[in-house]
Amino acid sequence: MNLMIKREGEDILESERFRKCEGIVHHKGTNVARHSMEVTEYALNLYEKGHYPDTDVRDLVRACLLHDIGMSDGDVRDSVSFLKAYSHPRRSAEIAREEFGANAVQVNAILYHMWPICVIPPSSHIGWLLLRADKHCAWGDVAGVIKGATAFFRKE
Ligand SMILES: [Fe+2]
Ligand SMILES: [Fe+2]
Repeated sequence: MNLMIKREGEDILESERFRKCEGIVHHKGTNVARHSMEVTEYALNLYEKGHYPDTDVRDLVRACLLHDIGMSDGDVRDSVSFLKAYSHPRRSAEIAREEFGANAVQVNAILYHMWPICVIPPSSHIGWLLLRADKHCAWGDVAGVIKGATAFFRKE
């Protein structure tokens, strides 16, 4: 694990809420906690390569770890996929603010991480970094599922 994740997000990782996310299936082949860790690692990797040098690492780590935490809410989890895409950023932002003291930058990044499915894009570069990392990891998960599901049709 990247040490910056432990330093800036240890309270999140050790929370009951985040642990609950280990049991919530996400993108078919992973779970919310693992996906959130991968998004955080990937975003930090981009930052360490010199993308977005003015980044506040604490804001980045916390927004990434919490961006899908709303999936731990029963109402969000049990709704149909289409609606979940719209409801989980809002619930994630509420939980981030109420249970983890998220500031305005973190809340904005979480709230708009589903752009362009949701109409409004994030307003900070931390939001764009989260969005970029989330799309990268989500597509990787989905590609893995599709590859597995279609293996029968390929001659490998
Ligand atoms: Fe999400
Ligand atoms: Fe995500």
